[in-house]
Amino acid sequence: MARELERVIVRDKHVTYIVNPAFFKEDDMKAETLADYFDIEKYQLAGKVIHEYSGRGKAYLLSDMYKNRILLRHYWRGGMMFKLLKDKFFAYFDTAKRSDLEFSLLQTMRKMGLSVPKPIAARYVKKGMFITNDIILQEIPGAKTLLKILTERTLSNEEFAKIGDAVGKMMLAGIYHTDLNISNILIDGANNVWLIDFDKCFLKNINQKLYAKMVDRLARSFEKELENTPELHWSKSDFDKLEPVIRNAFLRSY
Ligand SMILES: Nc1ncnc2c1ncn2[C@@H]1O[C@H](COP(=O)(O)OP(=O)(O)O)[C@@H](O)[C@H]1O
Ligand SMILES: [Mg+2]
Repeated sequence: MARELERVIVRDKHVTYIVNPAFFKEDDMKAETLADYFDIEKYQLAGKVIHEYSGRGKAYLLSDMYKNRILLRHYWRGGMMFKLLKDKFFAYFDTAKRSDLEFSLLQTMRKMGLSVPKPIAARYVKKGMFITNDIILQEIPGAKTLLKILTERTLSNEEFAKIGDAVGKMMLAGIYHTDLNISNILIDGANNVWLIDFDKCFLKNINQKLYAKMVDRLARSFEKELENTPELHWSKSDFDKLEPVIRNAFLRSY
């Protein structure tokens, strides 16, 4: 566990890598190797792309040089800013180093014992006034999004309990998830629940207002998917079953 929570910084002119040493041989923690490690075209040419997930952007499931299954995600701007800037963040703002921030937050959450993927490496590249970002995470084996599962079947009571517990615990630990939704909650092959997608998320004391904001966003994402997919194995009243479990885990400190 200890080595997994360290970070090694490798710089090469305008490129910065943040590396989790638990995942690399000593000799591989150098700029040339890391440049290849983040090069999606190299994986495509070598037939090492296992799957492409399409969310806001694309997330690539890859087989790396050690035959580990890893997930590579590029950071894109959202909303109106996408049209204008695509993947560029103003270097002036500290928040431009998105991948560095997410890498650190994931390590902090792992230290807290929360069920989030292990960060393997992050990269940010400065070009003039702008910064672009990528992150690589360990794959959660056999994971499916809650959305995918609900297109196939209903949730068991145990799953309701585990999902509510994972979300409530995250809030109790003081993590503000700014995009808590049905596609950012995963259940793996061993029926464990995981939370993902911590871009723009941060540590914050979660008061009632923030609690309500996160829960409302999650509720809305169920409602939206229900509109898109009426045959989803979910009904509005199911959220009335889930919310008390979240609240119960969240309020454990009081
Ligand atoms: N560590 C992981 N292990 C397995 N699957 C993952 C992992 N991280 C992401 N995914 C899959 O990739 C999708 C997109 O990743 P996510 O981090 O949510 O990015 P975004 O929603 O911004 O595209 C997820 O909905 C999930 O299906
Ligand atoms: Mg997502």
